[in-house]
Amino acid sequence: MKLLFSEFKLKNLHLKNRIVMAPMCMYSAAEDSLFTPWHYVHYLTRSLGGVGAIILEATAVVAEGRITEGDLGFYQDEQIERFRNLVAAAHENQTAVGIQLAHAGRKSRTKGKIFAPSPLPYPGMNTPEKLTLEGIKAIIKAFGRAAKRAEQAGFDFIEIHAAHGYLINQFLSPLTNKRTDEYGRERSLFLKEVIEEVRKYWPKEKALWVRVSAEEYDPLGNHPQDIVRILKELSGIDLIDVSSGGVTDFKVNSYPAYQIPYSETIKKLANLPTAAGGLITDAKQAETVLKEGKADLIYFGRELLRNPYFPLHAAKALGTEIIWPKQYIRAK
Ligand SMILES: Cc1cc2nc3c(=O)[nH]c(=O)nc-3n(C[C@H](O)[C@H](O)[C@H](O)COP(=O)(O)O)c2cc1C
Repeated sequence: MKLLFSEFKLKNLHLKNRIVMAPMCMYSAAEDSLFTPWHYVHYLTRSLGGVGAIILEATAVVAEGRITEGDLGFYQDEQIERFRNLVAAAHENQTAVGIQLAHAGRKSRTKGKIFAPSPLPYPGMNTPEKLTLEGIKAIIKAFGRAAKRAEQAGFDFIEIHAAHGYLINQFLSPLTNKRTDEYGRERSLFLKEVIEEVRKYWPKEKALWVRVSAEEYDPLGNHPQDIVRILKELSGIDLIDVSSGGVTDFKVNSYPAYQIPYSETIKKLANLPTAAGGLITDAKQAETVLKEGKADLIYFGRELLRNPYFPLHAAKALGTEIIWPKQYIRAK
């Protein structure tokens, strides 16, 4: 058995393999940011294709925290039933489903006011309003309410989106957080309070993942060692999903597996399991990352958009036997 197709257990989360569908905004929500039959087909196809886990795209905890009007939201009770149907269907294929809870902060393109830790615009975008303490508390509460709904929908894990220059990352980064109050003096405080609030509603036996930008590609921004220091100050996190960039408009020189060293650093120094990826399209490369102990899970984004059945092909490429969906056995 190859590592990519070995089981992974984290609290009561049980993955049949280590292939994770990366969270990817599809900007296709119905009015009121609701989940549609299109999303259902999109995600369930990857489940049939054999992924061990799906991370649902960035889903906003408040309407003004959406990146666009087409983002999914989780501030509506109506959404619970729609998500529950997807989760139940994915479970029939032994795929675990998580949801990425997000707030875009200054990178929101929605109509109306936008908010950030400090009134600094992302290049080419509107200037956000500086969040008041009341505004901060209200967003933290909204993360908690979304976590409660996630539990009601039966999600297997939650991923808090603290990467790519969105709101939580804006608090974490010295480039975007110029506050002089406690949220500026302790840049991890906002994330800490979000985790504490989520944990009030999200059972302790269930896994909580956090996605981080481990490298901000600016000498004055966060680097992997800074993220390690921040993570050591926090508790309640079970796994780190390692990404990078997005705080500034710097064009990253990316190539297959370019983010793997960040995962290696976080796994070793923060002593937490990691999911890693970025331009990985090859089963053998994924297998090598796992074999070298640089990550526990591998996420695939665009490869799964091109090829929803990637895991079935990956098993063949690695010469490993896996269970196909019974409806498709004749195509094996
Ligand atoms: C269409 C698209 C939408 C994305 N949306 C999100 C998102 O909602 N949340 C997130 O954390 N990353 C998002 N990403 C980044 C991916 O999760 C992933 O980290 C990135 O695409 C690198 O992996 P890949 O090279 O395997 O695609 C998105 C990427 C793409 C291509």
